Amino acid sequence: MISSSLYTKIQQTLQEQPKKRVLSFTWEEKKYFIKRRISNGRNTFAKQNTSAAFWCEAYKIMTVRQYAPLAPAIVLLTENYFVMESCGKTMQGVAKEAPWQEVRLHAFEKAGCSLALLHQAGLHHGRPALRDIAYDKENDTITFIDWENEKTFVSLDTKALDIFLFIHSCFREKWSVKDSSLIDAALKGYTSVQGSDQQIRNVKAFIHKHHLLFHVIHNLRRFGWKDVTAVDNARLYIDALTF
Ligand SMILES: Nc1ncnc2c1ncn2[C@@H]1O[C@H](COP(=O)(O)OP(=O)(O)O)[C@@H](O)[C@H]1O
Ligand SMILES: [Mg+2]
Repeated sequence: MISSSLYTKIQQTLQEQPKKRVLSFTWEEKKYFIKRRISNGRNTFAKQNTSAAFWCEAYKIMTVRQYAPLAPAIVLLTENYFVMESCGKTMQGVAKEAPWQEVRLHAFEKAGCSLALLHQAGLHHGRPALRDIAYDKENDTITFIDWENEKTFVSLDTKALDIFLFIHSCFREKWSVKDSSLIDAALKGYTSVQGSDQQIRNVKAFIHKHHLLFHVIHNLRRFGWKDVTAVDNARLYIDALTF
């Protein structure tokens, strides 16, 4: 049951920022995030309508938490918003911000391992990009956030697609060009979970099957589009993996 003072704090936060979709606040030294049932205004072609996406996300988070604490703890779910505990710093930040330097490699390995555990439970995230994976330094935990993304237009196993999109999201970051050690650590973590190397083989098979598509993407590199270059780099990286 939610305490009345936390409830009051939530109402106050919502009133202070009536238009914002994702809000955060601190209560009794703990950070929380609120997600509203309003459109984020981007990616509308890939995402379902706002209400469906909202309910789908709340449902998925609660489903995942039945198996493992790999999704945020929801403290309040209402018709118009849900409130969750903060899960720490996103991996995008962990990869480049100074306070996480010491734990960076470990956090990436743990992220890979956590993704494999999610897959082992028969679940998938949909788009585990670095900005949608959080690491909590104090508790040494990985949590997947933003569960509303589901791309069903690619004929790839949903778990293998998770891996591809994770690696793709890493290659969208500047640091990946010089140094792939964080990606290596994540893959090490992923494959440390028994049976998970089959998923890596699935991604490799997908690339092999669609070599023409990837060839086209490779030729588009010269335009310098960030996403295209990242796909090509992800393909090169996955091709070179020995599984
Ligand atoms: N539970 C949480 N713990 C930590 N950070 C969060 C949490 N929920 C949201 N955030 C932060 O807010 C950002 C936006 O939330 P997200 O659920 O990804 O919504 P969007 O659909 O706008 O991407 C995240 O990338 C992350 O930085
Ligand atoms: Mg997000």
